[in-house]
Amino acid sequence: MAQLWGGRFTKATDRTVYDFNASISFDKRLFHEDIQGSTAHVTMLAKQGILTERERDEILEGLSGIRGDVDNGILEIDINCEDIHSFVEAELIRRIGDTGKKLHTGRSRNDQVALDMRLYTRKRVAVTDGLLKELLTVILDVMEENLGTYMPGFTHLQKAQPTTLAHHFGAYFEMFRRDRQRMADLYRRMNYCPLGAGALAGTTYPLDREYTASLMGFAGPTLNSMDSVSDRDYLIEFLSALSTVMMHLSRFCEEIIIWNSNEYQFVEIDDAYSTGSSIMPQKKNPDVAELVRGKTGRVYGALLSLLTTMKGIPLAYNKDMQEDKEMTFDAMDTVENCLILFCGMLRTMRFRSDRMAQSAMKGFTNATDAADYLVGKGVPFRDAHGIIGRLVLYCVEKNTSIDKLSLEELKGISDQFEADLYDAISLETCVEKRLTIGGPGQEAMRAVIEKYREYLGESALADLTTDESYTDR
Ligand code: ARG
Repeated sequence: MAQLWGGRFTKATDRTVYDFNASISFDKRLFHEDIQGSTAHVTMLAKQGILTERERDEILEGLSGIRGDVDNGILEIDINCEDIHSFVEAELIRRIGDTGKKLHTGRSRNDQVALDMRLYTRKRVAVTDGLLKELLTVILDVMEENLGTYMPGFTHLQKAQPTTLAHHFGAYFEMFRRDRQRMADLYRRMNYCPLGAGALAGTTYPLDREYTASLMGFAGPTLNSMDSVSDRDYLIEFLSALSTVMMHLSRFCEEIIIWNSNEYQFVEIDDAYSTGSSIMPQKKNPDVAELVRGKTGRVYGALLSLLTTMKGIPLAYNKDMQEDKEMTFDAMDTVENCLILFCGMLRTMRFRSDRMAQSAMKGFTNATDAADYLVGKGVPFRDAHGIIGRLVLYCVEKNTSIDKLSLEELKGISDQFEADLYDAISLETCVEKRLTIGGPGQEAMRAVIEKYREYLGESALADLTTDESYTDR
């Protein structure tokens, strides 16, 4: 048991209490951020004359030695310490002696952990953003190759109107683009430095919080010290944005599972991304897609967990807040892994344009266009809707489709039908005539794709973070 306090106690902490309270098993992830924060803090303390330059140099050398030794595997993080902050401070004192005891001047673990978690989360937001960008690139590649790949569009999972694979994927492009915007939004909002808030009420030392913030690339210091140590909104926002990413991935996975089924065969998931059955030799299962869909639950769980943890906490810091870490870390790992796996699955997936087109030809996906044809001949839309409804019923009874009927049969239902109907309701016409922006017609799609390419050329959040220390997951 190694802890930073004990002066006012007459008894040792009960072992079970110590273990219950300790957080090093999971906050050891914050090691690099803890060193980074201490480095900035000490640099500022010396600039303000609170530490001498010599003391600063001794501490900085000690800190970088600890960091190097842990990174190189020479030094192991001692999990008997209470938390990562205690480990770094104890190790520093062990190395450089009494000067090391000055590290915590004008600081509390409350603002320290608030800083560490923010630094760590900031990096993970940027990583998630980068992975989303990669996914968008894969989606856009598929779109560009499939502008003329006709497929049925669905409502209620019933064939509705024909569209293209490019158009269908474009919907996901929009979703994941909004997810990236959410990352950028929350990044901007969270990018303020809580260090200097102390335990809750600031400190009496003449700290330069602007300077500390600038050393770590923050937009500035946070403006209320009580909020600084007890704000976890940014984590809730991040978990909410991650939950939305998972919801989108899960919908996409659901479609891929359906499309990959024997009944649909719109896509074929690559062998490298499929799994077999221990009993049924013929099976090739879409486990990756199913797992991504399944893991959505645990990410939602992390969001609900933190919302619930935070709901009854009075100002300012309370130990409940230590519960902000484990499930958040799990959610970050889960989403990053899912994005990587999903990208790989998508990149290697085979699209069966023949199957999609065949499917689009069946199921009366051109019924709306047939009604529109009659409108073109002067029939009011509501009447046209009724006529085509009867036509569909006729086809269902004869087990055929509208385009296969003879002109006489068509005229039997409405004398407005002429030979030009066949062209007006062909699969190609149905898609290519939908040319308003946002529609599947190739010309409309090309304009949108051009915008998407331009968008992907813009800089990503990862370009903003110059720090290289994110290597230790
Ligand atoms: N492990 C603690 C946490 O994650 C660090 C802050 C401890 N502060 C305190 N007053 N006990 O929140």
